Amino acid sequence: MSTLPGTCPAPNEYDEDTIVNPSANPTFADVLTARLSRRVALKGGISTTAAALLGGSILTACGGDGGDDTPAPAPAPAPAAAPKIGFTAVAKNKNDLVTVAEGYNVSILHALGDPMHYGDESWKDDGSETADSYNRRIGDGHDGMYYFGLSDTGTYQADRSDRGLLAVNHEYVVAPYVLHPAGRSAGATRNATEVEKEIYAHGVSIVEVKRTNGVTAMVRGSSYNRRVTSATTMDFTGPARGHALLATKFNPAGQQTRGTNNNCANGYTPWGTYLTCEENYLNVIGRAAGDDALRSAKDIASLNRYGLPQNRKSPYLWDTAGTADLFARWNSSVTGATSADDYRNTINTFGWVVEIDPFAPTSTPAKRTALGRFNHEGAWPAPAVVGQPIVIYMGDDSRNEYIYKFVSKALWDAADVGKGMAAGAKYLDEGTLYVARFNADGSGEWLELTYGKNGLDATNAAYPFADQGDVLVNARLAADKLGATKMDRPEWGSVHPSTREVYMTLTNNSNRVATTATPTGSQLKPDAANPRYYEDLKGTTSQKGNPNGHIIRWRENGTDVTKLNWDIYLFGAQADAASDVNLSGLTDVNDFSSPDGLYFDKRGMLWIQTDDGAYTDITNCMMLAAVPGKVGDGGVAVAAGGTSTIKGANATADTVRRFLVGPKECEITGIAMTPDNKTLFFNVQHPGEETTPDWAAATFGSYWPANQADANVKKRPRSATVVITKKDGGDIGL
Ligand code: FEO
Ligand code: CA
Ligand code: CA
Ligand code: CA
Repeated sequence: MSTLPGTCPAPNEYDEDTIVNPSANPTFADVLTARLSRRVALKGGISTTAAALLGGSILTACGGDGGDDTPAPAPAPAPAAAPKIGFTAVAKNKNDLVTVAEGYNVSILHALGDPMHYGDESWKDDGSETADSYNRRIGDGHDGMYYFGLSDTGTYQADRSDRGLLAVNHEYVVAPYVLHPAGRSAGATRNATEVEKEIYAHGVSIVEVKRTNGVTAMVRGSSYNRRVTSATTMDFTGPARGHALLATKFNPAGQQTRGTNNNCANGYTPWGTYLTCEENYLNVIGRAAGDDALRSAKDIASLNRYGLPQNRKSPYLWDTAGTADLFARWNSSVTGATSADDYRNTINTFGWVVEIDPFAPTSTPAKRTALGRFNHEGAWPAPAVVGQPIVIYMGDDSRNEYIYKFVSKALWDAADVGKGMAAGAKYLDEGTLYVARFNADGSGEWLELTYGKNGLDATNAAYPFADQGDVLVNARLAADKLGATKMDRPEWGSVHPSTREVYMTLTNNSNRVATTATPTGSQLKPDAANPRYYEDLKGTTSQKGNPNGHIIRWRENGTDVTKLNWDIYLFGAQADAASDVNLSGLTDVNDFSSPDGLYFDKRGMLWIQTDDGAYTDITNCMMLAAVPGKVGDGGVAVAAGGTSTIKGANATADTVRRFLVGPKECEITGIAMTPDNKTLFFNVQHPGEETTPDWAAATFGSYWPANQADANVKKRPRSATVVITKKDGGDIGL
């Protein structure tokens, strides 16, 4: 979803920028930043940084040794030869078209409203499809996705490219509301039919895809085709299953709930299941005026920390569509005698990582509570190693929120491939959740979010924790206590297949203020890991803070899962920006703003996607290919605004290059590749989002995808999955 104020977000959408972390949590980084600045000034030079990155430390980290007894990094697996980018860069442009590098084909796999089964009519472009039919149609707001090879016997075949299952998130119903006849009906209460349609247009679609004569298409009517929606029954599993905080009228035992929504990015597991992540659920959850008086102090602290103060109307107003349970449940307020009589806990039933077995269309999805509750962007696994734990990295996409990781208790056994939800229970229901602190000297710690450790117990003043379920439901409050680093909106992550270094986009943050300013409210000064403060001009408007975003990366320290060393791989910037803004030396072939989607393919080529509001006066959102080096391949730098940081090697045309540009007013997000690297899928979300349609004249901000093949065809804009192949049948990107 688009994010910068005054640009992309339509008025009816929840905006990540509106909710910020107000916790007093520190300051630790501020202190070290200042110390580093002095130290760097004294010592200077790359060699100092390199020493820090090799496991030593310029400074003694607070609470850590950071010194000689830091374990040496585990030997990295022999690296495969780095892939070489082989296409000609696509120029920035504002065309209403997917413009891909020369030599590539573009086709559409599916778009909003396409029927997955026979029996429903094709998309008619007039919004007349029934609400119920969205249980069998492709949803809206295509986002994260993953390709699973499908064997002849219907099992997971990781190396199969010509037949598979493609799981796609449908994050939200895009503001122009093209799935309704003439947009969203006006008024303080919503039309029930429209809301029902929206409930079924959210969630996840799973479709079989098949390659015939080199072209991959959806298999309509496949028995694997399935919709999971905001009404689908699902289980809670893990430590918070059965917790009083998850009790609802639907399931007073707190063991089940209905629906997954605002599914942003994704993950996958080595046993062949899909992970879908609940991000901006505040889109659809409201809370009544006066509700605080009916709540405990703990409840109020939790609700406020998760952005749901009393008397809050949700942008989508689903709870206003009627008294039926389908609608009333979207108001998280006390209306009955106990939590068994109402939906006061609705908010606690969202913000989870949900596991779905795409190979078992009747299986019940599971909300894996051990991975914590927050605005989950996605869940990115490290490559599994036999005998080692499963490790999953996650980000909480709101301004000033945190980066997390989950480490399973069970050790990976390759015999579990194909075991579906049972394998999920084995690896994802028991383990340890950590939150990241990035120190100014390039070191970092993973801080453990376990009840009874690190002050996470009833003595915690801001929120007294009762048990581990409470810590997981309120993971943000637990992370506050530990002094995690507030980041510039963590979006996607990805782990390099051979170096195992972890990359994560920090899309932008308008909440940073100058180092000389006195921050008010939730404003923050820059720190080493989120170092830039500057003003970016867009036409006649200006955006301050970190409008263009950056990509952090880190390497973990061998056997000690609590240590890391980081640098900033790449800074988003316009090519013509000042050198302390354009810190990575981007040029016309690779300049970009607001990185969001991120994906390492199996060869180690990194794909970067943008969801931007700062550079959109010059170009639509885009996707770039990159071949990164390693943590420590650059040096110390002073960012715009005067804060010292550690950056990676500068980009060149050989290491970062623009592969495609999307249509008007869209975001490029979601990416998957077949294992033979010959078919690439990506998503175009919300084309035409910023323009209010003229329904009578049928004019829209974009006419994509109908105009992709013929510019004269003008139909409603729809989110869609795009298939890219090379015209010569070769490997993508090379
Ligand atoms: Fe749904 Fe953070 O993007
Ligand atoms: Ca700009
Ligand atoms: Ca995103
Ligand atoms: Ca975004």
